[in-house]
Amino acid sequence: MNTIEILNEVASQVAVCKNCILHHSRNKSVPGDGPHNAKVMLIGEGPGFHENQQGKPFVGAAGKFLDELLGSADLKRSDVFITNVVKCRPPGNRDPQPEELEACAIYLNRQIEVINPMVIVTLGRFSMAKFLGNNVKISLVHGQAKKVKGRMIIAMYHPAAALHQPSLKSTVISDFAMLPEFIKQMDSENGGSKKKVTHPLPVEIFEEDNSKPPASQLSLF
Ligand code: URA
Ligand code: SF4
Repeated sequence: MNTIEILNEVASQVAVCKNCILHHSRNKSVPGDGPHNAKVMLIGEGPGFHENQQGKPFVGAAGKFLDELLGSADLKRSDVFITNVVKCRPPGNRDPQPEELEACAIYLNRQIEVINPMVIVTLGRFSMAKFLGNNVKISLVHGQAKKVKGRMIIAMYHPAAALHQPSLKSTVISDFAMLPEFIKQMDSENGGSKKKVTHPLPVEIFEEDNSKPPASQLSLF
């Protein structure tokens, strides 16, 4: 199967998936959207009300803000693949639970594997935790890039959090403004083409000693 066929297969699987209780409240699952060969992948938390209605990621208020953030980074939505750590809406937009994250990871892992993005932007702490572990504080690492298994992982605050907490808004705007620099750096490291990562399983949770602040490892410059 080629990449497009695999992404379509994932979409068909999540449409009928009953691997966690979130399927009970699902109207439409939201597999994710974007080019199959995207260099940049954005990973949010889970569908909200509007996403559950439409089956598309980030179509509500947070999505509108995300479009602005992407614009400030010279990116269009059609340049990036956008998805979530859980593909069905948590009731009332509650936090996804560990067993739901675990059950849904097979789909996201497959998407990461076939799209093979060189840059992953995590939106919010659940998506961040997948790559940086549960003990990393988003307030310490937001806007910073870290290489995890050949990819660049950049943790950002969730756009919805920034909408609810005005103090975060300028932070998330300036964090996104750094994205072009990070992409440029990965482009030049990869000779302008999408890198074939050296590790065949690039999506394992990155284990590290989180007892110390990771800041020193995070700057690539
Ligand atoms: N918030 C998310 O995390 N994902 C969406 O798709 C929409 C809102
Ligand atoms: Fe399946 Fe993921 Fe939906 Fe749970 S959230 S039912 S694991 S697709």
